[in-house]
Amino acid sequence: MKLAGKRLKELFSQSQIQNRLDEIAPKIESAIGEKFVVIGVLKGAFIITADLVRRFKLPILIDFIWISSYGLKSSPGDVKLICDISLNIENQKVLIVEDILDTGQSLEWLSSHLEKKGAKEIFTFALLKKSRRQARIEINFHGFEIGDEFVVGYGMDLAEEGRELPGVYALEL
Ligand code: IMP
Ligand code: MG
Repeated sequence: MKLAGKRLKELFSQSQIQNRLDEIAPKIESAIGEKFVVIGVLKGAFIITADLVRRFKLPILIDFIWISSYGLKSSPGDVKLICDISLNIENQKVLIVEDILDTGQSLEWLSSHLEKKGAKEIFTFALLKKSRRQARIEINFHGFEIGDEFVVGYGMDLAEEGRELPGVYALEL
């Protein structure tokens, strides 16, 4: 398979991802322990959010926030808010669902943004965590660790392409 002229190598198949979600969803829930608000980060986390929420047994509310952040530089000032959440999260426990933790700048920005809105406690989950880089923020839960490769699929894109691919693929350089 190819994207933008580059070959794709499968890192995680659809069923590997589903199995990992079966494992991790109960752990996330038992750490949170009571009704919470799931906030999916658009666009990259639209599929992972849909798959994760269907595994929760506690009462939840679901919202989305749309930000744009991927740049070469990395400072919280590079994060742009495109569309904010619509629910009131004051005094609520919140779970941020991200596609990938890279530098951590997006999650750092999101956490402080949601704190200012009065969230009682913020938990963070990313499907993937890039391990070679020291991120600016720690996350509570992640699906898989990967190296420094660029990945697409399962919601994640290269210049808006590849989001619909069912698994996670690395671009071969
Ligand atoms: P951050 O550097 O942790 O702020 O990551 C910001 C965002 O960049 C992530 O939420 C992704 O949407 C995007 N991103 C980072 N690495 C990749 C990648 O390998 N493929 C696709 N998107 C990525
Ligand atoms: Mg993202």
